[in-house]
Amino acid sequence: MTTAIIGTGGIGSAIARRLASGGETLRLSSADAESARTLAAQIGRAAVVAAGNRDALRGADAVVLALRFTVLKGVIDEIAGPLAGKLVVVPSNPFTLDAQGNVSRVLPEGQSSGEVVAGWLPAGARLAMAFGTLSADLFESSSDRTPEPAVLFYATGDDRAGEEVERLIRTAGFEPVKAGGIEQSGRLEVGGDLHDLVVGLARARSLTGAA
Ligand SMILES: NC(=O)c1ccc[n+]([C@@H]2O[C@H](COP(=O)([O-])OP(=O)(O)OC[C@H]3O[C@@H](n4cnc5c(N)ncnc54)[C@H](OP(=O)(O)O)[C@@H]3O)[C@@H](O)[C@H]2O)c1
Repeated sequence: MTTAIIGTGGIGSAIARRLASGGETLRLSSADAESARTLAAQIGRAAVVAAGNRDALRGADAVVLALRFTVLKGVIDEIAGPLAGKLVVVPSNPFTLDAQGNVSRVLPEGQSSGEVVAGWLPAGARLAMAFGTLSADLFESSSDRTPEPAVLFYATGDDRAGEEVERLIRTAGFEPVKAGGIEQSGRLEVGGDLHDLVVGLARARSLTGAA
C-alpha cells in the first residue's frame, strides 16, 4: 500500500525508512524538496518525491504528518480537500524550542494535542496519534526486535483508523497497542507515562488496561 510522508526531518525520515523496509510504497514531501530527494535516494525504489504536499496525497491510502506542531495547522489547511477519506497519522509533540534551547508546551495544561489536531481536520479524515512516542534513534533501534517485538502505542477515537494504523505499526516492525481514545494522546507525548517506553505486549497491556 502507499503512504504519504509530509516532513522528512528527524522522525519523518525514520518512519519512512521503517515503512519502506516493511514493504510500504512512499510519497515524500518536505518544505525544501532537497531533504525529501535525499531521503528518497537513500530508500530507493520504494520512495518517490512528490511535487508538493497536495501531490504527496495522490493515490496514498494514508498520510503521516511528520511536522513540528506549530506548522501542522498550516499544512492541514493546505491539503484539507484530499485529506477526507484518508488515515492521518500524527507523531508531533506539542512542544517548541526557543533560541536558548528551552522547551515549552504550546498547548494549555490538560489540553490534549490529539483533540486539537482532530479539530483542525476536515470531515472524513481519520486521525491516529502515533509514531511520536520514541526518539527517532530509539524508534529505529527498537524495530524488528526479537524474540519479542517492541510495542508502539497509539491513540484514536476511530475504529477504522485503529485498524489502519495498526497495519502501519506492524509494517514498521512493532506490535501496536491502543492507549485509548484521541483524548489520551497526552500519555504518548513528551512527559507522558507512555513516552520513550520500549516494552513488550504484556507490559503494554498492563499499562493501558488493553485486553
Ligand atoms: N525527531 C525525533 O526524534 C522525534 C521523535 C518523536 C516525535 N517527534 C515529533 O515529530 C515532530 C517533527 O519532529 P522532527 O524532529 O522530525 O522535526 P524536523 O527534523 O524539524 O523535521 C520537520 C520536517 O518538516 C518539514 N516541513 C516544515 N514545514 C513544512 C511544510 N510547510 N510543508 C512540508 N514540510 C514541512 C521540514 O522540511 P525541510 O526538511 O525541507 O526543512 C522537515 O522535513 C515534532 O513535533 C517532534 O516533537 C520527533
